[in-house]
Amino acid sequence: MSTHRTINIGLSEEQRNGVGEILNRVLADEYVLYTKTRNYHWNVLGIHFDPLHKLFQEQYEQLEQEIDDIAERARAVGVFAVGTLQEFASLTRLSEEPGQYPDARTMIANVLHDHESIIRFYALISSPAMSNMAILARMTF
Ligand SMILES: [Fe+2]
Repeated sequence: MSTHRTINIGLSEEQRNGVGEILNRVLADEYVLYTKTRNYHWNVLGIHFDPLHKLFQEQYEQLEQEIDDIAERARAVGVFAVGTLQEFASLTRLSEEPGQYPDARTMIANVLHDHESIIRFYALISSPAMSNMAILARMTF
């Protein structure tokens, strides 16, 4: 017996695959940002250690929930959610700095940059120029 069934949510298979592709790219970005934020939670230094340690924790906890929501939305449109570090690393548009432990101010600038990059991607996929994707994006974000 097949475990697959036809999904009837008003989107073609091509559209659902398109949504899934977008979701997996966002998932990769959010996962990398989650990891970076957790890294900073662990490794931030300086006189503002305590509030920044807590701030980064609040942020990575929010990102963790977003990651789970995005992955489950991919599943809801019938696409497998990427779930390996290799796939996240290959799909993400964000960069990491292995072995580097920036000062607190740079950490904040780095996560701000990444949040802005993700927001720009959301704006791009919602733009009229990507009308097909916009329909899908409105359904999923
Ligand atoms: Fe902790």
